[in-house]
Amino acid sequence: MASEHTVTGLDIGTSKVTAAIGEYNDDGALEIIGIGTAQSSGMRRGVVINIEATLNSVIRAIEAAEQMAGIEVKRVVSGMAGSHIEGLNSRGVVAVTGKGREITANDVSRVIDAARAVSIPMDREVLHVLPRDFAVDDQGGIKNPLDMIGVRLEVEVHMITGSVTAGQNLVKCVNRAGFEIERMAYNALASSEAILSQDEKELGVVVLDIGGGTTSTMVYLDGAPYYTSVLPVGGSQVTGDLSIMLKTSTESAEAIKRREGVAYMPLVEEGEPVIVPGVGGRPPIQRTRHQLCEIIQPRMAEIFTLVRDRLVKQQILDRIAGGIVLTGGGARIPGVVELAQDVFNLGGRIGQPGKYGDVLDTYQGPDYATAIGLVLFGGTPAEDSAFAGRESRGTRGGAFRRWIRNFF
Ligand SMILES: Nc1ncnc2c1ncn2[C@@H]1O[C@H](COP(=O)(O)OP(=O)(O)OP(=O)(O)O)[C@@H](O)[C@H]1O
Ligand SMILES: [Mg+2]
Repeated sequence: MASEHTVTGLDIGTSKVTAAIGEYNDDGALEIIGIGTAQSSGMRRGVVINIEATLNSVIRAIEAAEQMAGIEVKRVVSGMAGSHIEGLNSRGVVAVTGKGREITANDVSRVIDAARAVSIPMDREVLHVLPRDFAVDDQGGIKNPLDMIGVRLEVEVHMITGSVTAGQNLVKCVNRAGFEIERMAYNALASSEAILSQDEKELGVVVLDIGGGTTSTMVYLDGAPYYTSVLPVGGSQVTGDLSIMLKTSTESAEAIKRREGVAYMPLVEEGEPVIVPGVGGRPPIQRTRHQLCEIIQPRMAEIFTLVRDRLVKQQILDRIAGGIVLTGGGARIPGVVELAQDVFNLGGRIGQPGKYGDVLDTYQGPDYATAIGLVLFGGTPAEDSAFAGRESRGTRGGAFRRWIRNFF
């Protein structure tokens, strides 16, 4: 019997599906009590392309987590990924209507609705509307305007939208696996919850989640999300390159990458040997780690450069004083931090979840940031209800719940 205090985060990644069960005690402290993973099949670049295969991975991951936690999962907080995800900034303005011009929850809710009333294409759905900053009359920089006095309330929001059909396939997959989705979050937003400090968010920070099939970027400026983008490239490109260049199977290329891979040449000693298994009965061949790095580094540098160029174009890079935080399984290759520091000309670090409780610690790696972040996200009030009280009118949480309900 799942108690009301448990939250299950479900990260359906391109490489692996991870379920994390967290228990919130009465003081709100979180303990992770179950983790389950399953190899993912049926996903491509962050989106479901084979429902049957994906739902099997979902069931296996959740069952493993259930077994560890000793509880039964019914509802999950699901991540959402894929290069169809986009971010945009918008603003809204309303007149303060109440008696004494005191700003009420209703005014806040109305101004957020005004900000989200930008036209987005029919084939997209709003995943998040994240207030960045409020202004009352001309006074900006207000994080919570409730009870302040003014005639005019403005808000700046960061909105994250995604493809309706990609969302529907994800929902269908989770439902058919036998689970209900209580909330959804953009993967890198969830990961950020698990790995960033408030100081970094205030200073301006770039989060780069390097997964198997996608690389997701989330930028925080002045304490709040400012920029979102997902590239359809990730660690599997690196594995693919190794497989082709070393003339070996994808499986051995993956194993070699994990065991011997380095992404930054200055870290490699001359001549360290690596044995590459042959395919089709051919004998194994000997290569060096230096040669592996010659394959890995350019591909990782290419991914970083793509992200950097976008941030430069958006005039964001100059505003980052908190550095770059690398997460996702791709952040496990030695040398990624050094390489990213060179490409972005920023300080860097690996982001992985902290420790929640004493039961487990297997989730303390960068590839668990999304699943743990989803548990944290599920423990916070819905974005709209933070101001307007539970189950408020139709802002983000509402929209997504509607979406989930309508289609299945
Ligand atoms: N020790 C390691 N060294 C190098 N690469 C690693 C290591 N462990 C995992 N990876 C790489 O990380 C990638 C998987 O990362 P992750 O588990 O975060 O992906 P995912 O969430 O399933 O995918 P996505 O987010 O793109 O949907 C794979 O490309 C894998 O090769
Ligand atoms: Mg991922």
